[in-house]
Amino acid sequence: MIATAELHVHLEGTAPPELIGRIARRNGVELPAGMLAADGRFHYTNFLHFLDTYDLAASVIRTAEDYRDITYEYLASVAEDGGIYVELTASPDHAALVGLSDSEHYAGIAAGIDEARRDHGIEARILISGVRNFGVEAVERVARHAAQRPHPYVVGFALAGDERVAPGQFAQAFAIAADAGLCCTVHAGEWQGPDSIREALRLPVTRLDHGVRAIEDPTLVRELAERHITLNTCPTSNVVLGVFPSFADHPLPHLRAAGVRVTLGSDDPPYFGATLAGEYEVCREHFGWDDQHLREVTVAAIEAAFCDEPLRAALLARAHGPDPAARPSQEPAAN
Ligand code: ADE
Ligand code: ZN
Repeated sequence: MIATAELHVHLEGTAPPELIGRIARRNGVELPAGMLAADGRFHYTNFLHFLDTYDLAASVIRTAEDYRDITYEYLASVAEDGGIYVELTASPDHAALVGLSDSEHYAGIAAGIDEARRDHGIEARILISGVRNFGVEAVERVARHAAQRPHPYVVGFALAGDERVAPGQFAQAFAIAADAGLCCTVHAGEWQGPDSIREALRLPVTRLDHGVRAIEDPTLVRELAERHITLNTCPTSNVVLGVFPSFADHPLPHLRAAGVRVTLGSDDPPYFGATLAGEYEVCREHFGWDDQHLREVTVAAIEAAFCDEPLRAALLARAHGPDPAARPSQEPAAN
């Protein structure tokens, strides 16, 4: 089994309908109308509808225990397939909308991370995310809160939501986050093209979430390679949402061949029928990548991770090792 690592997954978006249903029953709330299709899967017809459905599902998540369960269950499932490290993109705005404080939100996620490490040997950290369609002020508020409330597991700041809201408007939010020592990433180059990516690259970021439409401009591709910008790509999400019509049309192999650092992510796994291990299999099946190529993807993720250096070194040792299940991180060797 190849060791895998993931830098691009939205925490609320990891909860499948079954878990959202369980949480709704526990909280005594009705499932929001229109959230599910007749077949029991999340219902959406395009990207903006997807964002609405995501918000409906997130509205059911109410307590620190809910966040613990979502975190734990996702990390356990990733570890089962060889996952050793995940950065979870979490949105304090979604928590605030249901009345959950930042400290309860963080505590729930941290409990899930700690218990997943104990039971499954997987490590995880948190990226605090603003949502661009919630507005510039809301995103600055999220950045300020993250800056003012340091937490050992919160290592980065991200920007998600409707990409048509141009990234340059959020320069102040990114400055607040970066000044507080948070590493930064931004969604770009999924729904908008090279100009939007160039604008995003003026922010203090070392990574882009998606970034795949850079392929439309060879000069930009060269710049990404030269600046060692890592693209956290999500091929299944792109194909399901129609950014590219098929895996055969996906530019990931060309970006990689041009020397751009790339990682794999599931984005919002149950919405897109994706898993992290499944993304590795997509690359094996559609792009012909072998174990060595896939191991390099994991190494690229760990090198671009926002974690501290001792953890990075431990993860790199596991990524290069023969069996990720054999060496749980930061745990004493078994007797
Ligand atoms: N929020 C949750 N999932 C997202 C995605 N895939 N893109 C942008 N914003 C998101
Ligand atoms: Zn995303």
